Amino acid sequence: MLKHTLLKAVEAGAAEMSRFFNGQFIISNKEGMNNLVTEADHASEKAIFEVIRQDYPDHFILSEESGEIIQDSTFKWIIDPIDGTVNFANGIPICCVSIAIEEAGQIILGAVYNPFINELYFAQHGFGATLNDKMIQVSQKTDVFSSCLVTGFPYTYLDSPNGPLQVFEKLIRKGVPVRRLGSAAIDLCWVAAGRFDGFYEHKLQAWDSAAGFLIVEEAGGKVTDFSGNRYSPYQPHIIATNGKIHDELVSIVNGGEVAG
Ligand code: IPD
Ligand code: CA
Ligand code: CA
Repeated sequence: MLKHTLLKAVEAGAAEMSRFFNGQFIISNKEGMNNLVTEADHASEKAIFEVIRQDYPDHFILSEESGEIIQDSTFKWIIDPIDGTVNFANGIPICCVSIAIEEAGQIILGAVYNPFINELYFAQHGFGATLNDKMIQVSQKTDVFSSCLVTGFPYTYLDSPNGPLQVFEKLIRKGVPVRRLGSAAIDLCWVAAGRFDGFYEHKLQAWDSAAGFLIVEEAGGKVTDFSGNRYSPYQPHIIATNGKIHDELVSIVNGGEVAG
């Protein structure tokens, strides 16, 4: 039943994305240059809320555009109504709806849906991860030097030792391909599907990563913070890999050199 409502919710959000895509919509600025929110983000969120409230009116909701809707429930829905809003606003079809369900502090279900390339990623804790109903697995690469990585950058420049640009520069100087898609939820799903061997990012929010985190773990990958501790979506740092390159990527993000 929870799964059914989750899938209905991502589809409802995605239908709103499709309705507005490449059309006319209002775009506003949030905190930080080019941190956008569009009419479609609000419409997607509204459609998702309607589905959840119909089946589970008492559940706690945490959603990017509305914040926390606190309820006394062990279940929490963690929602990004459009992940990849800058792509969406520019007509770039790399964006998605991302929804996770947490029960008593553990993410138990996650779904990420990109309607523009018709990819629905889904995971249930303990049952593996799927792309359009087919099981997926992380890649088999064993070193960073021969890996294909992906990362993202925060909306406002983050000036810190081993910051996003320093880590990126180090990898690029070594010739390691590092892509930047603009949707953390899709970055994570593409690690789960074996398209990327690893993903790291310095500043994410729970709604960006909660569903993708479960999808990577259920596809056999590993997700941690920058210290190598098991990931929590409530802190900003993330490293998600196929598991085999994990320790090496943790070391590189913390200032270590790229071997090879
Ligand atoms: C953003 C995307 C992007 C990441 C940003 C996020 P939004 O989410 O996930 O890839 O680099 O940090 O804020 O704003 O498109 O929902
Ligand atoms: Ca997001
Ligand atoms: Ca968003």
